[in-house]
Amino acid sequence: MKVCVFGASGYVGTSVYKSLESMEDFEVSGTYLDHNPIFDNLYKLDINEPESFSDFFKKESPDVVIWSVMNGPNEHVLTDQGLLHLITHLTPATKLIYISSDFVYSAGKGPYVEEDPLSTLPNDHLFSTYTNAKVKAERFILNELSNYVILRVGPVYGENQAGKMDERTEKLFRQLDSGQPIAFRDDLIRTFVHVEDLANVIVEMLEKDIIGIFNVGPSEKRSFYEFMSGIADQFGYHSNLVEKDSEYEEADQEIPKDTSLITEKITKTVNQNFR
Ligand SMILES: NC(=O)c1ccc[n+]([C@@H]2O[C@H](COP(=O)([O-])OP(=O)(O)OC[C@H]3O[C@@H](n4cnc5c(N)ncnc54)[C@H](OP(=O)(O)O)[C@@H]3O)[C@@H](O)[C@H]2O)c1
Repeated sequence: MKVCVFGASGYVGTSVYKSLESMEDFEVSGTYLDHNPIFDNLYKLDINEPESFSDFFKKESPDVVIWSVMNGPNEHVLTDQGLLHLITHLTPATKLIYISSDFVYSAGKGPYVEEDPLSTLPNDHLFSTYTNAKVKAERFILNELSNYVILRVGPVYGENQAGKMDERTEKLFRQLDSGQPIAFRDDLIRTFVHVEDLANVIVEMLEKDIIGIFNVGPSEKRSFYEFMSGIADQFGYHSNLVEKDSEYEEADQEIPKDTSLITEKITKTVNQNFR
C-alpha cells in the first residue's frame, strides 16, 4: 500500500512517517515545506502550489494520504488551496486521513462526542484562523469524500521519533532547568494525547481499513496546570515551580474553556491503549 504523509517533517508527521516506514506493508513517501528534513527522502512541496502539487501527486499516486500539515497564520490558505487541490486529485479508492483539532468544538463546553456540532469563531477572534480553517476543512471532506478518516486531536505531547518534544514541554523543561517558575491555566480543560499513541492509531486504522470521524486520546481530561505539573513530576522536577496562571482574558480573545473529548468510539475501534 502506497502512503504519502504531507507534513512529514513536522512534530506529528515525523512519528507517523517513521512508524509507517518501519512496517513491511507500507511504501511511504512524505513531504516538507521549508525546514531541512530529518529524513533524506522527503519531497519539498508547497501543497498550495497547484502545478507542483499535481505533478507530485500524479507521480506518487498514493493509495492513502495523511494530512499532518499546519501553517499558523496561513492555515486558511492550506484549507482553501492545499486541501482543495488534494480533494480534486483523490479518487474514491484513495483514502484521506485528516488530522483535525479539538478546536472544531470551539464553543468550549466539553466534553464532546463526535456527533456534537462544530463551531466557528468570529473572524476577528485571536484563534479564528486556525479554528475556522479546520472546521471548513472538515466540511469540505464530509461534502466531497466518502473514503476518509478525520481524527480530532487535543494538545499533542511527548517525544516524537526524532527525539523532539512538543513546544510546551520544551518550554517547561527550559524554565525548570533554570530554576524559574512557569504558569499554566487551570481553567482550560483538554484531552492530551501522546504523539506516539496518535501515530500508532493512524497505522492501526490503515491496517484495519477504518473510516469515519474519531475523537482521539485517553478517557481522562485535565487542565493545562494539572497536566504540566504531572509532566514535571514524571521527569523528576520539583512541581512546586509549576504555578497556576491568571485566568484573566480579553472578551474577544477568550480561549475555549473545555474542548475535552469523549473518546469511547476510538477506544472501541482500535487496540491502542492511550497513556
Ligand atoms: N501539535 C499539536 O498539539 C496538535 C494538536 C491538534 C491537532 N494537530 C494537527 O496535527 C497536524 C500536525 O501538526 P504538527 O504539530 O505536527 O505541526 P508542525 O510541527 O508545525 O508541522 C507542520 C508540517 O506542515 C508542513 N507545511 C506547512 N505549510 C505547508 C505547505 N504550504 N505545504 C506543505 N507542507 C507544509 C511543515 O513543513 P516544514 O516543517 O518544512 O515547514 C511541517 O511538515 C496538523 O494538522 C495539526 O492541525 C496538532
